[in-house]
Amino acid sequence: MAEDTATSASINVAFGTVAAGMMVIAEAHDGVFVAPRVEPTASFTLHPFAHCLHYGSTCFEGLKAHRGADGAVRVFRLDRHVARMRRTADLVQLPVPPADLLERMIVAAVEANLDEVPDAPGALYLRPMLIGTDPNIGAAASPSNGALLAVVASPVGDYFAGGVRPLSLLVETEVPRTTPQFGEAKAGANYLMALGVTRRARAEHGCDQVLFAPGGEVQETGAANFLLFDEHRVVTRALDSSFLHGVTRDSVLTLARDRGMAIEERTVTVDELLAWQGEAALAGTAAVLSGVGTLVHGGERRTVGDGQVGPITLGLREGLTAIQRGEAADVHGWTRIVER
Ligand SMILES: Cc1ncc(COP(=O)(O)O)c(C=O)c1O
Repeated sequence: MAEDTATSASINVAFGTVAAGMMVIAEAHDGVFVAPRVEPTASFTLHPFAHCLHYGSTCFEGLKAHRGADGAVRVFRLDRHVARMRRTADLVQLPVPPADLLERMIVAAVEANLDEVPDAPGALYLRPMLIGTDPNIGAAASPSNGALLAVVASPVGDYFAGGVRPLSLLVETEVPRTTPQFGEAKAGANYLMALGVTRRARAEHGCDQVLFAPGGEVQETGAANFLLFDEHRVVTRALDSSFLHGVTRDSVLTLARDRGMAIEERTVTVDELLAWQGEAALAGTAAVLSGVGTLVHGGERRTVGDGQVGPITLGLREGLTAIQRGEAADVHGWTRIVER
């Protein structure tokens, strides 16, 4: 099959459903990782007693490599994603991969799949994953010292079907997204806990996502951070252990600061949210920066701003993607070019 056909076809299918040809794998034995291997993407063999299958010892990361108009492929904020995966591995009691090993594996996965990186607005989504493999079904109270670390990849287009369009969010004030001790972790269990609520929000209210705001304080959605904008400032929850510390969030705050906007990292209440006169957006590797047009709360639908994706959101999104694609100066050193 021609390379171009594979690449352009894949970005029109659902996000994350196409596997790139190659993956990179390293095992850990007794907590120590051995040299990684680059292999065709294929099924794993797991012992049915594997720790991850019973006690949920798994975690992952998500980052992207972008092809620029200059043809070069750049990985975005590799160091931040590596640091966050190590933090999560620690939280889920798995062997923590050394930073240089994980970095090398991610870069090797991009290199091995270089021909599958789509043109913008598509990207190669990289999914490092770590699972506990010790074959022991009596290990509920002990960690897995055996582990499998793999970096798989997927050529992707838009996360939200329909491209850049205003999203609708259900504001959930009763059910939390996850437990307090795992708020900061990128672990599968967190997504599972949010899934039932998100499915109900779709079925009952036609909402794209749920904005979790337990006790009336805004946290984040199931897979992205939440930001408020007005002409002069960005308002978002301050970093704490209740939510995932997004790399996109950090990048957008930095770009906004560069543009002279004030950054307010603080508590945002649902009351303030519902009265907000400016724009609202979701920030994440998959979501990029996606405008929010509607909030559903207490059975009522409210329009945010004029209900469309606003100019501040679009301007910051454009600024971010321009750096990712090498079209704007990378003054913060966020990108790394990968070539053969
Ligand atoms: C729960 C959650 N919050 C926030 C984010 C945004 O993080 P990042 O910008 O690092 O992708 C993600 C992942 O994309 C996520 O899964």
